[in-house]
Amino acid sequence: MTASDVLRLGVNIDHVATVRNARGSAYPDPVRAALIAQDAGANGITAHLREDRRHISDKDIDGLMEALSVPLNFEMAATSEMQKIALRHKPHAVCIVPEKREERTTEGGLEVAKEENSLAHFIAPLLDAGCRVSIFIAADKRQIDAANRIGAHVIELHTGAYCDFHAEGAFDKRDQELKKLTEMASYAHSLGLEVHAGHGLTYGTVAPIAALPQVQELNIGHFIIGEAIFRGLEPAIKEMRRLMDEARG
Ligand code: PXP
Repeated sequence: MTASDVLRLGVNIDHVATVRNARGSAYPDPVRAALIAQDAGANGITAHLREDRRHISDKDIDGLMEALSVPLNFEMAATSEMQKIALRHKPHAVCIVPEKREERTTEGGLEVAKEENSLAHFIAPLLDAGCRVSIFIAADKRQIDAANRIGAHVIELHTGAYCDFHAEGAFDKRDQELKKLTEMASYAHSLGLEVHAGHGLTYGTVAPIAALPQVQELNIGHFIIGEAIFRGLEPAIKEMRRLMDEARG
């Protein structure tokens, strides 16, 4: 099977926890959402344990590890606290993301090129533990080369700028961003890296990204969880899956 045969959907359930935490209640439960997503056809679940625990909690990660039969993609900053948690759970995949306390969401990709040595050192025990290590980066050749040199299995391309330009109606800029994503997906694949993509994807923006033959996984959360308010979680996921399949042809 070639890379282009498969396009997985990872559903990010962080924002179920955001709603729960807004009231300090025990519901809605992100583990329950993850199980519904799994039944609706998600190929994996993504959860970001932030340093400030603003959405997903340590207990949620315990619950996800115990309950899921699809792989967990554990997003985390490159800190020793997160490394310890990842090594305790050994999830299927660990995606290293940049994290700033004041940001509302992950704003940019990781500066792998600047921190190559420390990141190589940081991911080594995760690779030894058998986790698939993914690095969340902008569509930038320097970052891809650095991710490749440190031994990551996967790069996840940040689609946030492409989605923002689309939402603003800045279609020229959106198309330039899509061109970069297209070229860099192909470049990373040529190096032997597995290519994922995500951030900000919606029903309106998913098709051109899903159509990139080198992309093997999309991680999508905020839009799906928002859409679930109107149509329910299972139909919201199934529609995303349908659009991905249609784009893939
Ligand atoms: N991929 C990564 C690495 C992310 O940090 C996020 C957001 O947590 C996503 C995908 C999903 O983005 P969104 O929630 O905007 O769909």
